[in-house]
Amino acid sequence: MFSFMAAGAEGAGVNPWVALAYLVAGVLFILALRGLSHPTTSLAGNRYGMVGMLIAVVTTLITHDIANIAEIGIAIFLGGIVGFTVARRIAMTAMPELVAAFHSLVGLAAVLVGWAAYLNPEAFGLLTATGIAPVSKVEMGLGIAIGAITFSGSVIAFAKLSGKMSGAPILLPMRHAINLGTLAAIIVLTALFAMASPTETMPLIVALTVAAFLIGFLLIIPIGGADMPVVVSMLNSYSGWAAAAMGFTLSNTAMIITGALVGSSGAILSYIMCRAMNRSFISVIAGGFGADGGSGGGEAREQRPYKQGSAEDAAFMLQQAENVIIIPGYGMAVAQAQHALREMTDLLEEQGVNVKFAIHPVAGRMPGHMNVLLAEASVDYDKVFELEDINSEFAQCDVAFIIGANDVVNPAAKTDKSSPIYGMPVFDVDKAKQVFFIKRSMGGVGYAGVDNDVFYMDQTMMLLSDAKKMVEEINKSLGD
Ligand code: TAP
Repeated sequence: MFSFMAAGAEGAGVNPWVALAYLVAGVLFILALRGLSHPTTSLAGNRYGMVGMLIAVVTTLITHDIANIAEIGIAIFLGGIVGFTVARRIAMTAMPELVAAFHSLVGLAAVLVGWAAYLNPEAFGLLTATGIAPVSKVEMGLGIAIGAITFSGSVIAFAKLSGKMSGAPILLPMRHAINLGTLAAIIVLTALFAMASPTETMPLIVALTVAAFLIGFLLIIPIGGADMPVVVSMLNSYSGWAAAAMGFTLSNTAMIITGALVGSSGAILSYIMCRAMNRSFISVIAGGFGADGGSGGGEAREQRPYKQGSAEDAAFMLQQAENVIIIPGYGMAVAQAQHALREMTDLLEEQGVNVKFAIHPVAGRMPGHMNVLLAEASVDYDKVFELEDINSEFAQCDVAFIIGANDVVNPAAKTDKSSPIYGMPVFDVDKAKQVFFIKRSMGGVGYAGVDNDVFYMDQTMMLLSDAKKMVEEINKSLGD
């Protein structure tokens, strides 16, 4: 087995222990992904991933002819400090843009490794009597192309998510023809690069790199803000495939395994998110959704009557309820109301009220956003339910308690074909006997920028305030 792995991993003559170490790292990465699939096991999953990465990096460093280990040590140290500082400072709500920024670095690294291998093939063990072998050049071309697409696409995603660029789609005329033409050019250039003699390759690899940077930019600018989370996850997938392609160039099994895991898990997550937002994956990638909806649009709306209540009213009615379902959303994250909410849950349960949490797959601004915050506030996992598991219970519930959510409870998704969120599965809060809706003002809109009929229903009481402040006041009344 070792000789097979060694041959498969790094060519003949490679120490089988190296192959074994990479295999162990690969298994740890798989355990990490498995662990990260549930809040109770996510900490262990993270640890598996860290140990796997440590094994892969140390194995690579001690078994390769490293020119200057001190330089690498300094780079790891400086990179570690930057990563640690950014991770500590970043607000949970800004996580998608941070992920986009990090993906751009993965893409750029793949481009640089590809170019380094092209410029110095001997150092990478790629030099044959006739120059670099065509198959290595195909791997190199693919790694550079996917890396460059990941880089420029992630930079645009970062700019859109962080508000440095408008989230509205930029629709170029004939964009599909331009995109298809550029993609075809990349494929042709890769083939020509693979077949060219050593003296002819430079202009081809330059053209290939430029075309790939361009297509990354062109592919992401037409995508509207509402689809950006899917784009980030898709770019995550691309960065994995870029790393896998580079793994082939460098004959490094650990990179191939890791790249394939990141590539496939990113693709699966993109698919799950598309399904949760009822978007077809192809229409997201082709771009242009959101042109009419826009993110955070907030166009002028007609005034409609609504009922407003106070924390005391809410506390009184909550105490009378038998079953309460809490639906948290982005506003809970902004207000950091999760701890106050946990306290409210405890107080209600002490008074015999049955409390459950309903989590929409795209509530908040990143996958698992609400789960992370509720876990941080030590809310029991067995009180937290996914959309499809709890949606039928609204018909029997006394109070649907919406806190900072909006799009995920908007019935327009079920009824209004012209709505930008039409088709997205939403919570059936309109079936609950009473609805409490916490948001700061009637003017504020959700991510999709559309009005919500739930505000104006007979059984809805608007609780207009910052989410944390409102829940703290409710808790005070519950405690009295
Ligand atoms: P949203 O529809 O974005 O609504 C957020 C609500 O929170 C608004 O009604 C806002 O109204 C309120 N709010 C904001 N700050 C608040 C505060 N401090 N206190 C109280 N309320 C506050 O949220 P959602 O229902 O969670 O839906 C998520 C949306 O984001 C979906 O459209 C989804 O497609 C999109 N999206 C999801 C993701 C992922 S992967 N989760 C990533 C990006 C985008 P006021 O301004 O009036 O307070």
